[in-house]
Amino acid sequence: MENFEIITKIRIYKESDYPDSKKELLNRAKITALNAYAPYSNYYVGAAVLLEDGTIITGNNQENAAYPSGLCAERTALFYANANYPDKAVKAIAIAAYNKGGYSKDVCTPCGSCRQVLVEVENRYSLPIEIIMYGEGQIYEVDSIRDLLPLSFGKDSMG
Ligand code: THU
Repeated sequence: MENFEIITKIRIYKESDYPDSKKELLNRAKITALNAYAPYSNYYVGAAVLLEDGTIITGNNQENAAYPSGLCAERTALFYANANYPDKAVKAIAIAAYNKGGYSKDVCTPCGSCRQVLVEVENRYSLPIEIIMYGEGQIYEVDSIRDLLPLSFGKDSMG
């Protein structure tokens, strides 16, 4: 029997120390969260996707009375980006959530389905996607979705 360890390194910034050069993407995620359609959960998520040419695409969660018909903010933004800019690689995504009258203090991390889609997008463009996760006052960053979804299933898994 053998063991191996999987180590995830997460950069943690205080919001006050966050580099100016990255604030625009984060702010776009925060603002976009306010336009989410989330009457059932009241959890308003925004995502901002940075493409390789500097274009920023935003999206937010879109809920539905028939719950599974809704979609998360990350996939709304990623699918729009891939639909309209299929030749532009995705470099980064920022995610923020607003609920109970303020931005969530808990860092907003992508759900399992969004992680799987992020793996697909990384594979599609052969470029790691930086994931920027916001909670009020703090920011978590990882350099690739592989840090959040190790041993993932992707196109190479099928031989
Ligand atoms: N949600 C997102 O938009 N992104 C996530 O990564 C987590 C969850 C949405 C889905 C649903 O509309 C609401 O947040 C509560 O789960």
